[in-house]
Amino acid sequence: MTTVRETARTFRRFSLAVLVAGFLAFPGSLPAAEEAANSCFSCHNRLGGRLGPPAREFFSSVHREAGLTCVSCHGGNPSLPGEESMSPKYGFRGKPAERQVPELCARCHSNIAMMRQYNLRTDQLAEYRTSVHGRLLYEKNDANVAVCTSCHGKHDIRRRTDPQSAVFRSNVPATCGKCHADPEKMKPYKIPTDQLADFEKGVHGRILSGKIEGKNPALAPNCATCHGVHGATPPGIREVANVCGNCHSQVASYFRESPHFTAVREVGEPKCVTCHGNHSNRVPTLKVFSGTGPGECGSCHEPDSKAIEFARNVRDLLSGLESGIEEIGKDLSEAETSGRNIDRLKSALDKARNKLTEAGPVIHTFSIERILPLVQESDAFLRTARQEIRNIQDEQRQRRAVAAYAVTMLVLIAALLGVKLALLPRTPPEK
Ligand code: HEC
Ligand code: HEC
Ligand code: HEC
Ligand code: HEC
Ligand code: HEC
Ligand code: HEC
Ligand code: HEC
Ligand code: HEC
Ligand code: HEC
Repeated sequence: MTTVRETARTFRRFSLAVLVAGFLAFPGSLPAAEEAANSCFSCHNRLGGRLGPPAREFFSSVHREAGLTCVSCHGGNPSLPGEESMSPKYGFRGKPAERQVPELCARCHSNIAMMRQYNLRTDQLAEYRTSVHGRLLYEKNDANVAVCTSCHGKHDIRRRTDPQSAVFRSNVPATCGKCHADPEKMKPYKIPTDQLADFEKGVHGRILSGKIEGKNPALAPNCATCHGVHGATPPGIREVANVCGNCHSQVASYFRESPHFTAVREVGEPKCVTCHGNHSNRVPTLKVFSGTGPGECGSCHEPDSKAIEFARNVRDLLSGLESGIEEIGKDLSEAETSGRNIDRLKSALDKARNKLTEAGPVIHTFSIERILPLVQESDAFLRTARQEIRNIQDEQRQRRAVAAYAVTMLVLIAALLGVKLALLPRTPPEK
C-alpha cells in the first residue's frame, strides 16, 4: 500500500521529469546537469513577475558562458531546492542596490589575474570613478546616474562585439539615450536632452547606423568614442581637437597651423565643435562666412576686421567655383545627349570638383595663401571645361548650319521643280 507521502513524492518526481523535459525542449533551458545543480535557476525560471526574467536573461549572457552562476553575484546555496537556499547563512546578499553595483562587478573586473586570461582591461572601475557618473554616485550619492548595469544590462550582459549587446558599437547611442534623451530623468540636472536626436541626424550618426551607403559604420564615432567608454565626461577644451583629430587627422593638422588653434589655447574658442556642433557635425554652408549666428564668422569677428575680409574673399572664391561647376554640370548633361565625345569635358570638370574638395580641409588653415593655389587650380580646370563646352557648342552650331543649309537647298530644289512642272505644257487628254 502506498502512503499519501509516497504518492506525493512520485508525483513530484514525475512533474520534475516533465519540467526537465520541458526545459530541454525550451531554448532558455540549461543542460540538465547544470539545471539540477542550480536550484536558483530552476526555481526562478518558473517564476513570473520580476523574479523570472533574470534567470531567462542570464541564459544567453557572456557570464554563463564563462561559468558564472547566480551565486557569483547574489550568494546563497544552489544545491538546496527550496527558498532555504537564499538564507543569509549561505552568504545570500539579495538584490544589490545601484550604489553597490560598481564594487560588485569590480570584484572580478578589477582582478588582473582573473581578467588576463580573457584579455580584458581591468580599469573600468578606476575610470568610472573619474567620470561625471561616478563622481555623482560617490560624492553626491546620486543613484540616478549610470552604473555598470545601466549600460551593460543586469543579467543579459554580452560581449561588446556581440551585435545584441547594449554596448555594441551601433547600440551605444540608444543606451546612453535611455537617460540622456529622457526629459523626465534629466530634469533635475538642467542639461539639454537633444544629444541623441542631433547625433542621429548628423553624418556620424547616419554612418554608424548604416544609413549612408558606401560608408563603413565601424569608422564613425559613437557617444563613447568622444566621451570615453568608462570615463564619461565631456572632452576638455584642448582634448576636443584631439578627439576629432584622431579620425580627421588631416583637417586637425591644418587647423593646428591656423590662428584659431592659437586662439583655442588662449581663449578657448573656436574649437571644431564651435563651427560643427557637438553632435550634429554639420558641414557649414557658405553662409557661415557671411552670417553672425552661433559658430558663424560674424559671431566673433567685427565687420571691418581682417578675419571678415578673409571670410568674404573665401566665400566669393568658393561660390564662384561652385556656381561655375554647377553651370558646366548642366551643359554637360546637355552635351551627353548630343552623342559627342565628352571625355575631356568630364575629366576637366571632375578635376575642378576634386580641387574644390581638396580645399575643404585646407580652409582650416584660415590662410588665404594656403587656399588660393587650390582655388586657382580648380578654376583653371573650369576654364578648360568651359573651352571644351564652347568647342562642342561651336561644332554643334556648324553641324546645325550645314543641316539648315542642306534643308534649305532641298526645299529650294523642290520648289524649283514644282515651278518647272507647273510651266510644262499640259498634254491634251487622249481621245
Ligand atoms: C524554490 C524557489 C527558489 C529558489 C530555489 C531560489 N529562489 Fe530566489 N526567490 C524566490 C522567491 C519566491 C523570491 C521572492 C522572495 C520575496 O519576495 O520575499 C526570490 C527572490 C530572490 C531575489 C530577489 C531578492 C530581493 O531582495 O528582491 C534574488 C536576487 C534571488 N531570489 C536569488 C536567488 C539565488 C541566487 C538562489 C540560489 C542560491 C535562489 N534565488 C533560489 C524563489 C527561489
Ligand atoms: C553578474 C552578476 C549577476 C549574476 C550572475 C546574477 N545576477 Fe541577479 N541581479 C544582479 C544585479 C546587479 C541585480 C540588481 C538589479 C537592479 O538594480 O534592479 C540583480 C537582481 C536580481 C533579481 C531581482 C530582480 C528585480 O527586478 O527585483 C533577481 C530575482 C535575480 N537577480 C536573480 C538572479 C538569478 C536567478 C540569477 C542566476 C540565473 C542571477 N540573478 C544572476 C546581478 C547578477
Ligand atoms: C564572478 C566574477 C564576475 C563578476 C562578479 C562580474 N563579471 Fe563580468 N565577466 C567575468 C568574466 C570571467 C568575463 C569574461 C567572459 C569571456 O570573455 O568569456 C566577464 C565578461 C564581462 C563582459 C564582456 C566583456 C567583453 O568581452 O566585451 C562585460 C561587459 C561584463 N563582464 C560586465 C560585468 C558587469 C557589468 C558586472 C556587474 C554587474 C560583472 N561583469 C560582474 C566575470 C565577472
Ligand atoms: C555609461 C555607460 C557605461 C558604464 C556606466 C559602464 N560601462 Fe562598461 N562599457 C561601456 C561601453 C560603451 C563599452 C564598449 C567599449 C568598446 O566597444 O570598446 C564597455 C565595455 C566594457 C567591458 C569590456 C572591456 C573594456 O574595457 O572595453 C567591460 C569588462 C566593462 N565595460 C565593464 C564595466 C564595469 C565593471 C562597469 C562599472 C564599474 C562598467 N563597465 C560601466 C559602457 C559603460
Ligand atoms: C542611467 C542613466 C544614464 C545613462 C544610461 C547614461 N547617463 Fe550620462 N548622465 C546621467 C546623469 C543623471 C548625469 C548627470 C547630469 C549632470 O550632472 O549634468 C549624466 C552625465 C553625463 C555627462 C556629463 C554632462 C554634463 O556636462 O554635465 C556626460 C558627458 C554623459 N553623462 C555621457 C553619457 C554617455 C556617453 C552615456 C552612454 C555611454 C551615458 N552618459 C549614459 C545619466 C545617465
Ligand atoms: C564626435 C564627438 C561626440 C560624439 C559622437 C558625442 N558627443 Fe556628446 N559632446 C561632445 C562635445 C565636444 C561636447 C561639449 C563639450 C564641451 O562643451 O566642453 C559634448 C557634450 C555632451 C553632453 C553635455 C551637454 C551639455 O549641454 O552640458 C552630453 C550629456 C553628451 N555630450 C552626451 C552625448 C551622447 C548621449 C552622445 C551619443 C548619442 C554623444 N554625446 C555623442 C562630443 C561628442
Ligand atoms: C571615430 C572617428 C571619428 C571621430 C572621433 C570624429 N569623426 Fe567626424 N567623421 C568620421 C567619419 C568616418 C566621417 C565620414 C567621412 C566621410 O564622409 O567619408 C566623419 C564626418 C564628419 C563631418 C562631415 C564631413 C563631410 O564631408 O560630410 C564633420 C563636419 C565631422 N565629421 C566633424 C567631426 C568633429 C567636429 C569631431 C569631434 C568633435 C569628429 N568629427 C570626430 C569619423 C570621426
Ligand atoms: C571657424 C570655423 C571652423 C572650425 C573651428 C573648424 N571648422 Fe571644419 N569646416 C569649417 C568650414 C567653413 C567647412 C566647410 C568648407 C567647405 O565649404 O568645403 C569645414 C569643413 C569641415 C569638414 C569637411 C571637410 C571636407 O572635406 O569638406 C570636416 C571633416 C571638418 N570641417 C572637421 C573639422 C575639425 C576636426 C575641426 C577641428 C580640428 C574643425 N573642422 C574646425 C569651419 C570650421
Ligand atoms: C568663437 C569665435 C570665433 C569664430 C566663430 C571664428 N573666429 Fe576667427 N578668430 C577668433 C579668435 C579669438 C581669433 C584670434 C584673435 C583675433 O585675431 O581676432 C581669430 C582669428 C582669425 C583670423 C586671423 C585674423 C588676423 O588678424 O590675423 C582669421 C583669418 C579668422 N579668425 C577667420 C575666421 C573665419 C573665416 C571664421 C568663420 C568661418 C572665423 N574666424 C570664426 C575667434 C573666432
